[in-house]
Amino acid sequence: MNNIPRDVTLVTGGTGLIGGEVILALARCGEPVRAVVRASGAAQAHERLVTRLQKSEAYSPHLLRLIDAVAGDTTRPMFGISDASLTDVRRVIHAAANTQFSRRHDEQVWKTNVSGARNLVEVGRTLPRGSRILFVSTASVTTAPERTCIDEEAPYAGHANTYSRSKRRAEAIIRGSGLEIAIVRPSIVLSRGVRDRAMARSILWAVPIMGEVGEVPIDPDACVDLVPVDYVADAIAQLAVRASLEHRLYHISAGRDACTFGELCDVLITRHPQLERIRPIGRGRTISDRARAHLMRPLDAYLPFINAGIRYANDRLMSEAAAQAPSALTYVPDLVGLITIREALSEMYQP
Ligand SMILES: NC(=O)c1ccc[n+]([C@@H]2O[C@H](COP(=O)([O-])OP(=O)(O)OC[C@H]3O[C@@H](n4cnc5c(N)ncnc54)[C@H](OP(=O)(O)O)[C@@H]3O)[C@@H](O)[C@H]2O)c1
Repeated sequence: MNNIPRDVTLVTGGTGLIGGEVILALARCGEPVRAVVRASGAAQAHERLVTRLQKSEAYSPHLLRLIDAVAGDTTRPMFGISDASLTDVRRVIHAAANTQFSRRHDEQVWKTNVSGARNLVEVGRTLPRGSRILFVSTASVTTAPERTCIDEEAPYAGHANTYSRSKRRAEAIIRGSGLEIAIVRPSIVLSRGVRDRAMARSILWAVPIMGEVGEVPIDPDACVDLVPVDYVADAIAQLAVRASLEHRLYHISAGRDACTFGELCDVLITRHPQLERIRPIGRGRTISDRARAHLMRPLDAYLPFINAGIRYANDRLMSEAAAQAPSALTYVPDLVGLITIREALSEMYQP
């Protein structure tokens, strides 16, 4: 990436679902990007990054002239990167996080997400005034009042787990820093446009499992706010490059157009008849058969978030940086088609 004429955007989480697509979205706009990647050195960082980017339909080898990678770790001071790696940086997008919901990972989730925010602030303090800094949080920091469309001003409330609590804490660190860091909060992000079965099943593994369980304790009329990663990445890239931002906090979400769980089940069953047994029977209902209840247990961590039935208002984003998100009913069936029951089971029992 020699003789780059423009300011560089530093991106963390580039080997992940959202960070990888954000890097491609920026490069497609002609913006030079530097990724912070966990690796033993720059060569391995670059290799890991390119392996991830190649999975995307948005990837093209000519974009690599705008993309470089440095080895680093967001849990370390200054992300573990050298001062020289920051001299031409005028934007930062911090997308790295530990997104695990299993309690086994609680300690690591808290450490990664909270120290990442502290270190982002530290990095931000070294950048010239006016640099654009985006922190990627999650809409799930607020899950109440249930069954409503809530906007960015709603206070933290409702069901939370260690992951969403770590994001609340991280947001507080960002706000308390006094720096002009904007927080973006995607809702539930799905891997449309990424040719990778593992990324498809990172959330949607639950669908084939539900197909085995049959009756699931979810309200059919609960809204599920889903967005495809290509849409999320474009929105984040637009917020990053805009000359100025109206707000310091943005949902990246489907908002009022989010579908319900029942609508999603209907299109899934039409496209995948093997899922025909899925029947949302309402929250709190007990699954009778022991074997099916056992299968249901790993899904328990997700149920309170789904049954909260929140739509996350996206008016701010739509007035500044994006069109309406595409309907999940149009792309979720294709993603579910990438997941076998065997893969779903192994994802479910991952350590
Ligand atoms: N996916 C969603 O539905 C969703 C919804 C709302 C918000 N978000 C937020 O969006 C962001 C990205 O999520 P995602 O789904 O893209 O996550 P992901 O696919 O799990 O990727 C996580 C990324 O973070 C990196 N990372 C983790 N710990 C790190 C560390 N100590 N140092 C450097 N990099 C580290 C990972 O690198 P390695 O490859 O080295 O592990 C990976 O690149 C997160 O902040 C997440 O909370 C996601």
